[in-house]
Amino acid sequence: MAFADGTADFRSDTVTRPTPAMRKAMAEAEVGDDVYSDDPTVNLLEEESAEVVGKEAAVFVPSGTMGNQLAVMTQTRPGEEVLCDGGAHVRNVERGAASALSGVAFRTVEAPGGRITPGDVDEAMALAGRFFPAIRLMVWENSHNLSGGKVVPLDLMEASNAAARRHGLSIHLDGARIFNAALALGVPAAALAAGVDTVQFCFSKGLGAPVGSVLCGPADLIAEARFLRKRLGGGMRQVGVLAAPARIALAERDRLVEDHDLARYLAEALAARFPGSVDLDGVETNIVNVDVAALGVPYPEIADRLASARILTNAPFAGTWRLVTHRDVDRSDVDRLVAALS
Ligand SMILES: Cc1ncc(COP(=O)(O)O)c(C=O)c1O
Repeated sequence: MAFADGTADFRSDTVTRPTPAMRKAMAEAEVGDDVYSDDPTVNLLEEESAEVVGKEAAVFVPSGTMGNQLAVMTQTRPGEEVLCDGGAHVRNVERGAASALSGVAFRTVEAPGGRITPGDVDEAMALAGRFFPAIRLMVWENSHNLSGGKVVPLDLMEASNAAARRHGLSIHLDGARIFNAALALGVPAAALAAGVDTVQFCFSKGLGAPVGSVLCGPADLIAEARFLRKRLGGGMRQVGVLAAPARIALAERDRLVEDHDLARYLAEALAARFPGSVDLDGVETNIVNVDVAALGVPYPEIADRLASARILTNAPFAGTWRLVTHRDVDRSDVDRLVAALS
């Protein structure tokens, strides 16, 4: 259902507002100073998070960006490179953080949907450390934001992880939306994380909590990440008030299937009304990429129509218009969006 003022917001799954149960949990959370590891709610959240992805330890961080960056900081040295697909969030959207904080560059491979193959890994590694900088870390993104929430199949991850290990690489999974990927693939999140060293996931996206992400991995590496989190100014105090809604979000993670159903409903409605606007096979989770040219209406006019209908979307990027479903939109909002476009 749209927000109380009638606005339906399809810009991102980060726009969700905490549920009444989350707000109650925030008010009642048991807290302590988390820099002393004294916050019982944070400690519980970290234990539960590590368990869900099958890792030894976890550290609660303010954002997915910090989770990814701590993974890069702990697993590279300045001057080295990080292997990822050309569309990865860690390279394209995190504001040069990896070069500024870790002194690394990216070695990208063209892997649509983030589907890095063993051949991609072998090819990238052929000259690394000899004529080109050493590559130390490989990063996956699953589900893959820029490609419209597509998922990387588990068998491909396993094959390419094996290739990466042969070359001595560490592996990080940017699992900002790992539970969307797990549901779409029909595998546990722990299976997607089994072959990687570290995994980051977000409570504040489709899971619906107001703030926070977590980095999970081996205990020694997470201890170092905790130290570096403080260095970055991310040592938080009575932060159980944020861990409490994140615990609810984690427990309710299977509700993401509703967002996937709604994305399909949206994609089918758009494809029926504007043939060629959506590749239905490419809609795998909660993101629908629309070819804006196929709508037959220039975007500024679309923006005007949507504004009158109290619908929010982001402007298209490189011809692609990204619409995202989440717990604060429903079928009536989709119907409204398609009607406004028509
Ligand atoms: C795949 C992916 N990784 C990381 C992030 C960063 O998360 P945050 O916005 O919490 O820093 C995002 C945010 O949209 C994302 O989509």
